[in-house]
Amino acid sequence: MDEKLKQVKQMLAKYGQEQLLYEYNRLTDENQKQNFLDSILTVDFNQVKKLYEQSKNNPVFENSNIEPIQYVDKSKLTKEEYEELKEIGTKQIKSGKLAVVTMAGGQGTRLGHSGPKGTFDLGLDNHKTLFEILTDILIKAKKDYGVNIPWYIMTSEDNDKATEKFFEDKNYFGYPKECIIFFKQGELPMTSADGKLLIDEKHKIKEASDGHGGIFRSMLREGILFDMKARGVEWVFIGGVDNVLVKPIDPILIGLAIKKNVLAAGKSIIKANPNENVGVFCKKNGRPSVIEYSEITNEMAEKRDKNGELVYGESHILCNLFNIKAIEKVAQMNLPYHIAFKKADYIDEEGIIVKPDKPNAYKYEAFLFDAFEALDDIAILRVKREEEFAPVKNCEGVDSPETARKLYMEYMLKNN
Ligand code: UD1
Repeated sequence: MDEKLKQVKQMLAKYGQEQLLYEYNRLTDENQKQNFLDSILTVDFNQVKKLYEQSKNNPVFENSNIEPIQYVDKSKLTKEEYEELKEIGTKQIKSGKLAVVTMAGGQGTRLGHSGPKGTFDLGLDNHKTLFEILTDILIKAKKDYGVNIPWYIMTSEDNDKATEKFFEDKNYFGYPKECIIFFKQGELPMTSADGKLLIDEKHKIKEASDGHGGIFRSMLREGILFDMKARGVEWVFIGGVDNVLVKPIDPILIGLAIKKNVLAAGKSIIKANPNENVGVFCKKNGRPSVIEYSEITNEMAEKRDKNGELVYGESHILCNLFNIKAIEKVAQMNLPYHIAFKKADYIDEEGIIVKPDKPNAYKYEAFLFDAFEALDDIAILRVKREEEFAPVKNCEGVDSPETARKLYMEYMLKNN
């Protein structure tokens, strides 16, 4: 028997994944057969086994000591405090020490948009897409601070080519091409409800993005950290692609991190209600952390203090700042994986593509904010929702293009 096939068979037998062989036996093209075996050999079966076992007991933070976290309210800073932080942060920006990273690897499934999420047209009169709105911010920063801020865009295997092509076709919206750098996030195999690996339409092991927590490793692997250092970058703002009021170039946030002598900072807003789909900042066993909305208990989400305020009400809006030293540290670590049960197309034993109408597979994702726990402390800056948070998540209702468009237009009217 062919050596490679023998090796694969042994591996599959060891990990109880022999069902994958049906695809090998079914394929007739020798190249496809070899590619299929190669795709199996890239899988870290031990990791998959551990991840699946973890699916039975998703991270239990209830056993941890959770406490509210301290924050600084931007609107309550005195004029002197504000000016001091502004001066510290501005100096960093003007000397080219800030870079911006936009995480644009998500699938945008809830929005129902088929291309990369950043290519979504917000529906303004000028038909700007999310990417163009972000580019506007960087172009404005050039005017305000006199520097071209390097902009790194994290894509995924699925949308990388389409994202780069979009920017090329749009001539980078007038931002210098050499200041926009694309890099890809990593992937991990998905498993069925009983822990079996699946096969995708390309006759390979079915994989999905490993979550934005994989960003630190991807930055190391793809040479992004190296590139940042070569450009003299020290602070990196990391945000999502879908908040049209994001303020990635904020001297107050940088100033606060430096003043507090910490290696990371995050922006928060007051949670609108206990059920809002946002993570919340907290302290977990004495370390900064975020509890995601999909994992918080009702009791914690609804807990109020004596003034009637939510105890866990500092919402994480995915607007975070990291010092390059913190990124280097976390890039060497294993962040935990969170588990989601999702719909995943796959090829069945008859070679037919199955498109399930309900969730059928586990997806394993690391979350960026779990990196906070690797740090002793972070700074949190509470900002105003109407100034900094207008996400485009769902096709209608809350956090939809309609709500984001309204907030964006109101903000522009007041501030331009
Ligand atoms: C996210 C935060 C949540 C926060 C909320 C604010 C996570 C896990 N949770 O929730 O704490 O309160 O935003 O709006 O992020 N992305 C990638 N690669 C991935 C996954 C996501 O690049 O593998 C990007 C997406 O393109 C998007 C951003 O990360 O820009 C957020 O992802 P999304 O899945 O929309 O997170 P939410 O559930 O909205």
